[in-house]
This record gives sequence, C-alpha cells and structure tokens, in this order.
Amino acid sequence: MKKVKAKACSNIALVKYWGKRNIPLNLPAVASISVTLDTLFTETEVRFDPELKNDILVLNGSLASEKDTQRMAKFLDLIREKSKNKNCAYVESTNNFPTSAGLASSASSFACLALAAGRAAGLDLPKSKLSELARLGSGSAARSIFGGFVEMAIGKKDDGSDCIAHQLFPKEHWDLTVLIAITSEKKKKTGSTDGMESSRLTSPFYKPWITSSPKDMDEMREAIIQKDFEKVAEVAEFSCLKMHALALATNPGLIYWNGTTVDAMHHVREMRENGTPVFFTIDAGPQVKAICPAEYSGQVQKQLEQLPGVIRVIKTGLGGDAIVVEEKRVG
Ligand code: PMV
Repeated sequence: MKKVKAKACSNIALVKYWGKRNIPLNLPAVASISVTLDTLFTETEVRFDPELKNDILVLNGSLASEKDTQRMAKFLDLIREKSKNKNCAYVESTNNFPTSAGLASSASSFACLALAAGRAAGLDLPKSKLSELARLGSGSAARSIFGGFVEMAIGKKDDGSDCIAHQLFPKEHWDLTVLIAITSEKKKKTGSTDGMESSRLTSPFYKPWITSSPKDMDEMREAIIQKDFEKVAEVAEFSCLKMHALALATNPGLIYWNGTTVDAMHHVREMRENGTPVFFTIDAGPQVKAICPAEYSGQVQKQLEQLPGVIRVIKTGLGGDAIVVEEKRVG
C-alpha cells in the first residue's frame, strides 16, 4: 500500500472558459489561457486501504460534507477503473485559501487529487494524461497540472482525449504578480457547472461568446509571446467582462459581483490610466485579481488595501507544475 502526497497550485484564466460541450466528460465549449498561482495551493494525501468500506475525505481538517465526498468518490472511481486498485481511499486535503469563493479551489483540488490518487493507485501517468484526468473533476483543473502560462485546448475528439492543457511558457518567461482583493468570504450561490449550463440554455449571448473566443485566444497567445502587457490587459479584461455579460444575461441572471468588486474594477482602470501597468480579471465569484509586472506589485497592493470593502489582499507570483511531495510504502 502506498501513501502519496501531492501539491498543485491554483490558476486564474486570462482568457476565460465558460460553457461545456459535454457535461459528463467536462469538455469545454471554448479554449482558455491561464496563469498558475504560486501561493494559492492544495496539498492532498491519498492512500487506498483494503480495510475501508467507503471513501473518506478530510477537508481542511474536518470530515467533508456528503456532497463533496460523493464528488470525490466519483472521481476516484475513474482512477479505480484505470488501475488495478479497487480499494476505497482515505484522502486528506488542505487548501491554503478560501474554498468556493471564486478562487478556483476546484482547479488545484482536482489537479492535486489526480496526481496523488493516480500515483497511490499505482498509475504512472504522463502530464498530458494527468491533465485529461484532472479535467474530468473540473475543467480548470486540467490547467493546474502545469506551471507558468498554460493553454487549455478545446479539442476535437468526442472522447475528450485531445481536450487537455499544455504549458505555453514556464513562469520564468515573465515575472508577473497577481494581487487578489478579497471582497467577501461567503460561499458562492451558483457553482460553475450549474451556471455554465444555465448560460448555455438561456443567455442570448452564448453563441457570440463561443464564436468570438478563437480571436481572444490568438491575441492572448501572441501578446504573451511578445510580453506585450497592454495587449494582455486589453484582451484579459475583454474576456472577463464578456464572460460576466454572458452570466448576467443568463435567466435568472448570475451576479457574481458585489459593490466592492465593481469599485475595485474602476480603481484598477484608474491606476492604469495614471500610468501603472495593471489590469483586472474576475472568475465566478466576487474577488478581484489585479495583475501587474512584479516591480509594480507593492504600489498596487497598497492601493487595493486602501479601498473600502476590501477585506485583505493576497499576493502571489506565478507557480510551477503539480508535484509529488512525498511517497511512502505503508501497511
Ligand atoms: O473549472 P470550473 O468548473 O470551476 O470552471 C471555471 C470557470 C472560471 O473560473 C469562471 C473561468 C476559468 O476559465 O477558470
């Protein structure tokens, strides 16, 4: 029996993913580009144990809810199917950041679980296969297998085997800092899977969202290659606001922002107008992520901290690939 501990960093998308073309396989309807975040990570330890009757998940020190345990168990079934290991698993997982508040905890969680559980079950998967496996847990998790600047392909095959992420550049390519303004620590009301499906079914903006995505992808890829900050800022804010326009025009409308979220967006734009290279992006939650070259991070952090309604600001650089931290024979 093997006990394996892995670590995977969270990520945020610069070109957003919203919408699925296949729900059971979690195949995205659009491609995406993200950066992996150094200081926001999940650590997960897994052992498959013949003595256990059910899968057990301990999340941030407490026994997880039935819903979270079921979601994990379904994912572990995929690993049991692929490996010879049919045992139930004992899983301990910790996130060092607020869970389910738009900080992509599912991305780092499923990337970490894919790596740790896959290894503990005796599978030795290459990164591309790990990315495919992680995607089955959460679309954005496919990107957290890789560090730095990451592209998630939409893929063409029905089985999803080409719907995987790959690294565009390692983090050393460009020293960017992400400052996350926490504006609320409440759990979000609508999870991304339900929100995406509602948007697909009801938003009049869904089709144009899909057809306009390849242009954003091409422009963002090129801007990252050139390290053209202004262009990255323009495309990232466009993709973010377009995703939220799509969510707002869903019926019933998905409003992920609060008042401070909107104030922070204006503030970031003001900073940019006054000469500081910084832009914002926001996922399916109220937190605002301001991104700037590392040398500007001190002043951007100070400005965000002074904004009324901002609870605190988390600072992070770009992170690396998901890794195995410890591997031990037990029992
Ligand atoms: O991977 P999911 O199902 O949590 O969806 C992520 C969706 C966004 O965070 C809003 C956008 C993205 O590309 O990460």
